[in-house]
Amino acid sequence: MSEVFDTTASKSEVYYPSQEVVDNIAHPDYMELRENARRRPLDFWEEQARKLVDWYEPFTQVLDDGNRPFFKWYTGGKINIVHNALDRHIKSWRKNKLALIWEAEDGEQRTYSYFKLWREVNRFANILKSMGVKRGDTVTIYMGRVPELPIAMMATAKIGAIHSVVYGGFSEQALADRIEDAQSKVVVTCDGAWLRGKTVNLKDIVDEAIHRSPVVQRVIVLKRTGQDINMVADRDFWWHELAALPIAGPYCDTEPMDAEDPLFILYTSGTTGKPKGLIHTVGGYQVFIAATLQYAFDIKEEDRYWCAADPGWITGHSYIVYAPLILGMTSFMYEGAPGYPYPDRWWSLAEKYSINILYTAPTAIRGLMRFGDAWPSRHDLSSLRILGTVGEPINPEAWRWYYTVIGKERCPIIDTWWQTETGGFMITPTPLIPLKPGSATLPFPGIDADVVREDGSSCESNEDGYLVIKQPWPGMARTIWGDPHRYVQTYWSDFEKQGWYFSGDSARKDEDGYFWVIGRMDDVIKVSGYRLGTAEVESALVSHRTVAEAACIGVPDELRGHVIHAFCILTAGVNGDAALVDELKNHVRHEVGPIAVPAAIEFVDSLPKTRSGKIMRRLLKAKVMGQPVGDTSTLEG
Ligand code: WT7
Repeated sequence: MSEVFDTTASKSEVYYPSQEVVDNIAHPDYMELRENARRRPLDFWEEQARKLVDWYEPFTQVLDDGNRPFFKWYTGGKINIVHNALDRHIKSWRKNKLALIWEAEDGEQRTYSYFKLWREVNRFANILKSMGVKRGDTVTIYMGRVPELPIAMMATAKIGAIHSVVYGGFSEQALADRIEDAQSKVVVTCDGAWLRGKTVNLKDIVDEAIHRSPVVQRVIVLKRTGQDINMVADRDFWWHELAALPIAGPYCDTEPMDAEDPLFILYTSGTTGKPKGLIHTVGGYQVFIAATLQYAFDIKEEDRYWCAADPGWITGHSYIVYAPLILGMTSFMYEGAPGYPYPDRWWSLAEKYSINILYTAPTAIRGLMRFGDAWPSRHDLSSLRILGTVGEPINPEAWRWYYTVIGKERCPIIDTWWQTETGGFMITPTPLIPLKPGSATLPFPGIDADVVREDGSSCESNEDGYLVIKQPWPGMARTIWGDPHRYVQTYWSDFEKQGWYFSGDSARKDEDGYFWVIGRMDDVIKVSGYRLGTAEVESALVSHRTVAEAACIGVPDELRGHVIHAFCILTAGVNGDAALVDELKNHVRHEVGPIAVPAAIEFVDSLPKTRSGKIMRRLLKAKVMGQPVGDTSTLEG
């Protein structure tokens, strides 16, 4: 089952924390904490909830498990995440501390103190109110990587509405589906976004998506690129014009929410074409992300922290926007692509802003590694203290490069395994834990993870199995928006009898109890760390007039982890030539987004199917990879 990289080879390779790390650790009691949490998980979660965040009204119960798997956390508690991320810091010495430093792709810089960020959030919260947004309404946010994106998210949360951020790399159909599913009457966007010196026409995509999903009544448009766009009278409004109106004052009350009220919807790919809108709630989510960030990255007050993900993904929600602000940290955010305009752009930023913690993905590391060591070596990277990775298994070669060339063998690599569904880190080291390249090491305190067989029995050491979580945790997604049945079906039905959460990943545990995540077991493909469902790409392909049927698989790729290979059956009389391959690629780019574009498209006369008509992607994959096809007994006759 092992995919791109052989992880077994490096199991005896262990990296112990340096004396410097050990001497300077802010949370030396981590292993003790883990042991206590193992014995009494609810006490641990209660303590974190009291310590890390403020409540308007205290919770009366830590966990309500009366209606499994619809767990409730911190019931009775009243809280708002923006109170903890911003309001409370305004009343403390942190008022003038930097919350956010931002650099644009063209080098423009902006800084926000906690006070300034708070005022901007208040202003935009008032704007949303004036647009008729109320508690419980959904707001879709579709923007580039600009400070106004977190501002829009927090303004939404402040007034008790629910944000649904759609990654700016998605295109028309993907956006339309998400707007439609969330039933958002208000969309916040930009005229365009900068990427590698070019502009992406976000507003045009919004216009087209609204055409397909007409629920939208108001669009607020941030001027970012200044390109010509179409503004529809009485529907579209410029952010800066609204902000200049008296309604957009810098004070806005924060809405006290129930701990279990929804905070946001975040769509992620699954096995069917319809995107799943996962719901995270106000209370448990914030406790979980603050606790995990604090311990795993050993956060200190003076840290300069850079999570280089996009705010449009869960990594950005949890670890760019909310958790760092709850912990009162200073974050850095960069608008553009890692290697633009030069391969050392990132390293020059790390040096210039004296970054202490850098958190990114294996695909970015591999991409930068390709440019060679000279690029990072011309920069002083001595401010770095901790390096993090997330999104897919990191191959030992990239791990070692990150560790030696970037971290100069001083910085622990914090390899965090988690998912959109889990809200925050589930399996992760801290700087004190000995590291093995390619392993996310051990479960976080209070997380009961295991690798099991189909019948639920625990696997032996180094035996591949299903990665499950046996006890609930506060950051877990509560349901799928509008489809609780699908939530139960997707995550809780494989181990229904035991009542365990199944992650969809396969993994193994070694003799030290370290977890080695292998990859997805379902029809989800990780392309450059981005999660795509085969069904999404397939339905985009068949929406083209020439394609009768399509099947997609993930094929290992050195740089991107996996790339998509598509097989298409064409409608009668259509000629499958190179021009059509290009046309289909463009079509997928237009419908779903650039990340979904297949690396290869092959035209075939038939697809292998089971007797019940399910496409056997496993066989297609074996064929592409030149492997034996295995058991084909359920194959169509
Ligand atoms: C899937 C979840 C969580 C934020 C980004 C991804 C894979 C994630 C790791 C890691 C091995 C990893 C898994 C998981 N994954 N982190 N450190 N090691 N695999 O969130 O888009 O919901 O994807 O990403 O396959 O199931 P996501």
